Amino acid sequence: MSVLIKGGRVVTAVDDTVADVFVDGERISLIGESLDVAADRVVDASGKLVLPGAIDPHTHLDMPFGGTTTIDDFTSGHAAAARGGTTTHVDFCIQQPGTSFGDSLAMWHAKREGKALIDNGFHIAVTDLKEGGTLEELATLPDRGITSYKLFMAYKGALMVDDETLFRTMEVAAETGALVMVHAENGDAIDVLVKKALAAGNTDPVWHARTRPPETEGEATNRAIQLARVAGCPLYVVHVSCKESVDPIMRARELGWDVWGETCTQYFLVDESFLERPDFEGAKFVYTPPPRAKPNQDVLWNAVRTDVLSAISTDHCAFLWDGQKTIGRDDFSKIPNGGPGIEDRLRLIHHFGVSDGRITLNRMVELLATNPAKLFGLYPRKGTIAVGADADLVIFDPEKPYTITAAAQQSRTDYNLYEGTEVVGDVETVLLRGNVIVDGGEVVAEPGSGQFVKRARFGEQLRANVSAG
Ligand code: URP
Ligand code: ZN
Ligand code: ZN
Repeated sequence: MSVLIKGGRVVTAVDDTVADVFVDGERISLIGESLDVAADRVVDASGKLVLPGAIDPHTHLDMPFGGTTTIDDFTSGHAAAARGGTTTHVDFCIQQPGTSFGDSLAMWHAKREGKALIDNGFHIAVTDLKEGGTLEELATLPDRGITSYKLFMAYKGALMVDDETLFRTMEVAAETGALVMVHAENGDAIDVLVKKALAAGNTDPVWHARTRPPETEGEATNRAIQLARVAGCPLYVVHVSCKESVDPIMRARELGWDVWGETCTQYFLVDESFLERPDFEGAKFVYTPPPRAKPNQDVLWNAVRTDVLSAISTDHCAFLWDGQKTIGRDDFSKIPNGGPGIEDRLRLIHHFGVSDGRITLNRMVELLATNPAKLFGLYPRKGTIAVGADADLVIFDPEKPYTITAAAQQSRTDYNLYEGTEVVGDVETVLLRGNVIVDGGEVVAEPGSGQFVKRARFGEQLRANVSAG
């Protein structure tokens, strides 16, 4: 199968030119002006943007969490991703209690088998080095294409690890060339605050934010940075939500340390007041770290513009409001933490980031595709438009109005964080390795067509490619 995409505005992290893109099989074969080649399919992209398929480095599909399981599996989650222009994601394989990393990975591979519509890799989330997982086994995972180790510094009694586990994992990463990812919040302090709030009779969703103050995120971010420095490993801080966490990342990057951070779409657009919506609607916005006070939104836009933060993910962790979020109707600490978002990232960042003048189109591509590819060992196969790269391409109509609603989404969840938001710009056609998976806004991919991607180690070459502070 060959596809000729004609006359689009081809945008990468660095280039912006009107050109034709010729796809032969799974790869991009030619890029040039008025290409004279025959193709099985010709797509007229005049007036449209041609972008690299977006990469989401932070998702939770079919994940047991908070006493239930996330509602999107590797088919519905991938349909949502594809419709939103995401062609690759890296999901979290959570080490199950008392289980080896290999057994947990086998479980996660089984979840995607025969179901995947887009490509994906896995991070390994280390939860226990005493029973089940060993440091020796951890060290072997990069050879299997698992080149990032994730640790939760919060969720006490569930996923949280102590500093010894964090530091020992960091030491392994320093040896193996893996990237350490942290969910940075002080889980012990939060646990005390949650217990005090409940004892005082405070059970509403807004107490999710009130018991996780920004300082607890700032403290853990700084702790992780300093420990990574001692261990000598590269560090990536996930879902940065506030100034208290941005500041230590900025300082580390100014010093040239191997520290990177991401934020997520929701932290630009949802603030803590959403948690106060009546009739338990606030529970829709219970994700962690929580929505913050509004001034943090400008801090985050500034951080992604100035390369203090290097990626925008979604942390897609979807639950039904009716039947899953409602588990915590009488106790905010029982509301499953997480929100949907994999479908809306590109259109929201294009509208509120690019069209509103906060970031350039090139920077949007860098934040949504190129930097995630570089940081997570997918570049240059993915994350850019270049001869020889996978033909993961998005044809995006920057003039098309779109109203975000749960009714129209691919995700199985029964709500949308951005319900009713009107944007201008939407995904029209998506190619994954040369195959059309979204056609005129319709998802046409077949379950099983997505591939597992073995990722490269976080190496010296990649460090040079992703600009340090
Ligand atoms: O609330 C969230 N973010 N749920 C998913 C797990 C995590 O902390 O990333
Ligand atoms: Zn997290
Ligand atoms: Zn997450």
